[in-house]
Amino acid sequence: MSEHISVDIQDKVQILRLNRPDRKNAISQAMYAALADAIQNAENDGNIRCTLITGSEECFTAGNDLSDFAAGPVGDFESSPVGRFLFGLASAETPVVAAVNGPAVGIGTTMLLHCDLVFAGNNTAFQMPFANLGLCPEGGSSLLLPTWLGRVRAAELLMLGGVFDAPKASEMGLINRVCEPADTEAQALQACRQLAAQPPAAIRATRRLLNRGCASGLRDAMLAEGEQFGERLKSPEAGEAFKAFMEKRKPDFSSFS
Ligand code: COA
Repeated sequence: MSEHISVDIQDKVQILRLNRPDRKNAISQAMYAALADAIQNAENDGNIRCTLITGSEECFTAGNDLSDFAAGPVGDFESSPVGRFLFGLASAETPVVAAVNGPAVGIGTTMLLHCDLVFAGNNTAFQMPFANLGLCPEGGSSLLLPTWLGRVRAAELLMLGGVFDAPKASEMGLINRVCEPADTEAQALQACRQLAAQPPAAIRATRRLLNRGCASGLRDAMLAEGEQFGERLKSPEAGEAFKAFMEKRKPDFSSFS
């Protein structure tokens, strides 16, 4: 349970809403735990045929709560709240749709790699600034992005960590449709209802088969990323990046070797 995640089940569609507007929907440990529980719940509840993950018309998520990052890694990655969310999302058989507007930072972009359909507003700002923060890729992005987009495009997104918009994400094949922000959620919900009306076992088999090509490599990649990420969180580079964010200044990495 988290006050910042609302869970609503309507017509066999589970709607998970990130709702922490004063922190740009940054995801805390409690929020990851609530998301992981809900993803698992959809697997166990035959009445849920599809999950929608969304935020608001202005903001999807600013990614991991940076004060949690600054506090350092929390034990075993796979069983941590973020690990349970990512592994659960990647291996879920119930289809997942995302409706995204505004900032979609870090895990706000990488979680989309595990969604079946993604609708994004033309105000969406995708970004994976892991290296910029002294960190490394997560969410299977170090495997999925080069596989899907090609090595140099993946390196550009993960090493330079710049912002890209919805038309660019669409051109790269990361999202299905660019929407007016006021319409993103409605379009995604319509797709959820379509999915919920499809034969459920056929949809689960399709999702399993779509994921099959990367499934075993993905688990390995996510474990390696989790290990490296935990190390990076303790690094002086990350320390400088987090301090700079809190102090609202640019980080200075010039003294690191
Ligand atoms: N963790 C914790 N707090 C966060 C946060 C995060 N990831 N992202 C934003 N916030 C907080 C800000 O510190 C600010 O708090 P304040 O009002 O006490 O100063 C508040 O949310 C609003 O954010 P602000 O930066 O003023 O909003 P903005 O519209 O100017 O910019 C973002 C939005 C998302 C571009 C910007 O907040 C940002 O870059 N956040 C960090 C994203 C990030 O690096 N995430 C980790 C990825 S691995």
